[in-house]
Amino acid sequence: MTDRYAVIGNPIAQSKSPQIHSAFAKVTGQDIDYTKLLAPLGGFAAAVDAFRAAGGRGMNVTAPFKLDAFAYATDLAPSAQMAGAVNALKFEGDKVHAENFDGVGLVRDLVHNLGCPIKGRRVLILGAGGATRGALLPLLAEQPAELVIVNRTVSKAQALAALAQQHQSGKVPVHAAAYADVVGVFDVVLNASSSSLTAELPPLPPSVFSPDCLAYDLTYGKGLTPFLKLAQQAGVTRLADGVGMLAEQAAEAFAWWRGVRPDTAGVIQQLTVPLV
Ligand code: ATR
Repeated sequence: MTDRYAVIGNPIAQSKSPQIHSAFAKVTGQDIDYTKLLAPLGGFAAAVDAFRAAGGRGMNVTAPFKLDAFAYATDLAPSAQMAGAVNALKFEGDKVHAENFDGVGLVRDLVHNLGCPIKGRRVLILGAGGATRGALLPLLAEQPAELVIVNRTVSKAQALAALAQQHQSGKVPVHAAAYADVVGVFDVVLNASSSSLTAELPPLPPSVFSPDCLAYDLTYGKGLTPFLKLAQQAGVTRLADGVGMLAEQAAEAFAWWRGVRPDTAGVIQQLTVPLV
């Protein structure tokens, strides 16, 4: 029987996950059925129960259910614990294994696809919400020289910096700052704030970008966001959005479910929206 998977969310029409996982199944020769599941608000657990009862093997979880999935899980991976949110589930009997692959997907895109090593570099990350929280440990595992978290509400950046210091095994200095107080230049600047969703410009001084900096917006398909435009105007030539992160987190989930890691190049090419 064909193994069943789904992405659950509300809304869900916009999700690229079925397209991505179907492409992965094709290139790896895996026989899976992957669909979109619209659950009513407040109806996450009932929808997942029904999917499991019908033989479902695993799920991706998108907004607004990442915290519901966290509560529903029986076995939380450290990545999900650290992120405080879940984006992939695997069902085995009574067990509900939960993961969050966003951070590892981001790092794989940076290091592997974009050829931008993190080790020894100065990294600045914008925002102190869920996206930053999920990215912290995978970034620190790469041993940057320093990681600075900048946020409008500085207390949130301070809380995340403290959390990161507590959980990392290495000795990477992690600092929090307000936008007006960011000092020095950075080799990698990541926009993990939700500013691009509303086409807003974070109040970032253009002086933060080093001449050979990579500016990376974690949002996907928004073209040249105000953040990327700021970087471009500051002379940055290496600009990227989160299409590779989207593909890589999906590949991590696929490998976790199926035991085989798909190559992501074809999917990234299919989904790339030019940065214009
Ligand atoms: P997500 O899960 O996408 O990270 P979130 O948890 O709601 O979403 O967090 C959104 C983050 O984007 C916050 O850090 C927010 O800053 P504040 O904590 O100061 O509100 C940040 N953010 C949203 N709009 C922004 C903007 N226009 N400029 C800069 N930061 C912004």
